[in-house]
Amino acid sequence: GLVNTKELFKKAVDGGYAIPAYNFNNLEQLQAIIQACVETKSPVILQVSSGARKYANATLLRNMARGAVEYAAELGYEIPVVLHLDHGDTFELCKDCIDNGFSSVMIDGSHHPYEENIALTKKVVEYAHAHGVTVEGELGVLAGVEDDVVAEHSTYTKPEEVEDFVKRTGVDSLAISIGTSHGAHKFTPAQCTKNADGVLVPPPLKFEILEEIEKRIPGFPIVLHGASSVPMQYVNQINEFGGSLAAAVGIPEEQLRKAAKSAVCKINIDSDGRLAMTAAVRKVFMEKPGEFDPRKYLGPARDELKQLYMNKNINVLGSAEQA
Ligand code: G3H
Ligand code: 13P
Ligand code: ZN
Repeated sequence: GLVNTKELFKKAVDGGYAIPAYNFNNLEQLQAIIQACVETKSPVILQVSSGARKYANATLLRNMARGAVEYAAELGYEIPVVLHLDHGDTFELCKDCIDNGFSSVMIDGSHHPYEENIALTKKVVEYAHAHGVTVEGELGVLAGVEDDVVAEHSTYTKPEEVEDFVKRTGVDSLAISIGTSHGAHKFTPAQCTKNADGVLVPPPLKFEILEEIEKRIPGFPIVLHGASSVPMQYVNQINEFGGSLAAAVGIPEEQLRKAAKSAVCKINIDSDGRLAMTAAVRKVFMEKPGEFDPRKYLGPARDELKQLYMNKNINVLGSAEQA
């Protein structure tokens, strides 16, 4: 069955790797995630956002995730699978997920004033823990869009708040803001420098803030949102086959590797998967304009996504061979 994050995070923090948290909205994404994680023997967190619930229907999504556990076993290797609510914004939404078989939820109260964030998070934790469900809270606001909330600049997590927040809420993990953000445009060109090849190089993450947080809550599971790397190969392929993505910039893999070795034990990736699928679909449409069987373009998109996730598990997060 599905598992919560408790044991997985403990092992990941101790082992110096991070568990992948991949979003899914449809069948092909779920297939790719499970195939990649079974083949690399990696634990996995399946994430469902409220947008995903609106798009695909909550009942369908949670039953797909349950089926995914069986599917993994059928593929020949049982891996721990967590079904997690991504960016829950109300107690009611979290409760609905908890009542319907999710093993983990995020309550994102980061845009509320501190005391309100604590009260909301604590309320979710009390209900979740009574049902064996783990909870992720957040302190600090990521730049860009966090669901309906638009922040122009990151408000970095204040290390002096983390101990109090964790103690008073009872959360199982904490999402922090150290310079990542959601989407494929994490930095403006003005924030970047250019390397010798003219490629935009983003400013580094605030590792000094992460270190300060780790000093205050040693070994406590930390979560990194907005951790897509925005691979140039996909951006170029999209543009080559009729798309137009300008100045897309992500978090360099080297920085994620470094983060994964710390108390960061969950790394959220969605945008890279979207880019991989779009690049593959665009290629099919350009090269085979007569094709109209959805399996003939969603299939290659799924296969590209699987390759991307296998590479993440093996070369970036270090979660391969940990299941
Ligand atoms: O946090 C954002 C995730 O990438 C989910 O995105 O809200 O468009 O489903 P979404
Ligand atoms: P990316 O947009 O960088 O993939 O981040 C995804 C995320 O944080 C989901 O919660
Ligand atoms: Zn996120």
